[in-house]
Amino acid sequence: DWTPDSFIETTVAQLKEKLGDDKVVLGLSGGVDSTVAGVLLHQAIGKNLTCIFVDNGLLRKNEFESVLDSYKDMGLNVIGVDAKQKFWDDLKGITEPEEKRKIIGRDFIEVFDVEAHKIKDVKWLAQGTIYPDVIESVSVNGPSATIKSHHNVGGLPEKMNLKVVEPLNLLFKDEVRRVGKALNIKQELLGRHPFPGPGLGIRILSDVTPEKVRILQEADAIFINGLREWNLYDDVWQAGVMLLPVQSVGVMGDERTYENVVALRAVMSTDGMTADWVHLPYEFLAKVSNSIINKVRGINRVVYDISSKPPATIEWE
Ligand code: XMP
Repeated sequence: DWTPDSFIETTVAQLKEKLGDDKVVLGLSGGVDSTVAGVLLHQAIGKNLTCIFVDNGLLRKNEFESVLDSYKDMGLNVIGVDAKQKFWDDLKGITEPEEKRKIIGRDFIEVFDVEAHKIKDVKWLAQGTIYPDVIESVSVNGPSATIKSHHNVGGLPEKMNLKVVEPLNLLFKDEVRRVGKALNIKQELLGRHPFPGPGLGIRILSDVTPEKVRILQEADAIFINGLREWNLYDDVWQAGVMLLPVQSVGVMGDERTYENVVALRAVMSTDGMTADWVHLPYEFLAKVSNSIINKVRGINRVVYDISSKPPATIEWE
């Protein structure tokens, strides 16, 4: 019978056998899969595992620092790479969503490749690929993978000349969470909503600038922290804020304003393939809207997305 404990015992033994004294590099994203993969590998090979966490300048507010701290608390040997400026420079003036994805994916591979090869004698690239990703990459994935190119699986191994190890590639998401729990990984990390690899880059519906990233991070933090405070976070599968390329008229005191609109999105789903918008309480939406408009300079209007997938996708780009 499959249990998290038996899985951990067998997998750690297999990893020890397979990897011996070899050096291994793993890209951490702050998400559940790469975190669980990291902790498992750490149990198997300890210091021979080096993890890399890249700040692409498109993460949530304070996410880089706080996730890095949690990883260090777990004893992982993790290198945080601040590559914000590179991503922002390369995204300058780019508005087409697929082009943004390609640039973000390419930059990630470049940054990761450089950092990984600073590790002397590194032989293996570990990935947190889970079973549904394996199926996706042989493309039985319905519309979303073909409509939007998801960059987090492909590309990296070919470029890097490393052997690949994927300890979770037979597990489903719920099993990964159970393994994570048995490994004593904090619920705060295990229960995190999915977050797309291209991050806020595909939630800014126009060209990306550091200022737009800042505005969106502020609004997003108010929404997500609000969901936590109102105990709604775990009732939602994924939530986020979109910065629309629309300005609208408002009033502030005696002044006319002409500023940005953001859309809040919160969905229920099991696998992201279909999704329903969540009927969040009006009182909650009112609080979040007021708070965003009062606190985030540059936003004077908040709307709530009431579209389900299909036909609307979860992300707007
Ligand atoms: P859509 O917008 O296609 O999203 O309904 C379905 C799920 O996939 C995530 N998503 C991405 N994840 N790279 C990723 O790693 C991407 O380019 C990407 N695009 C969408 C989205 O956040 C949702 O969870």
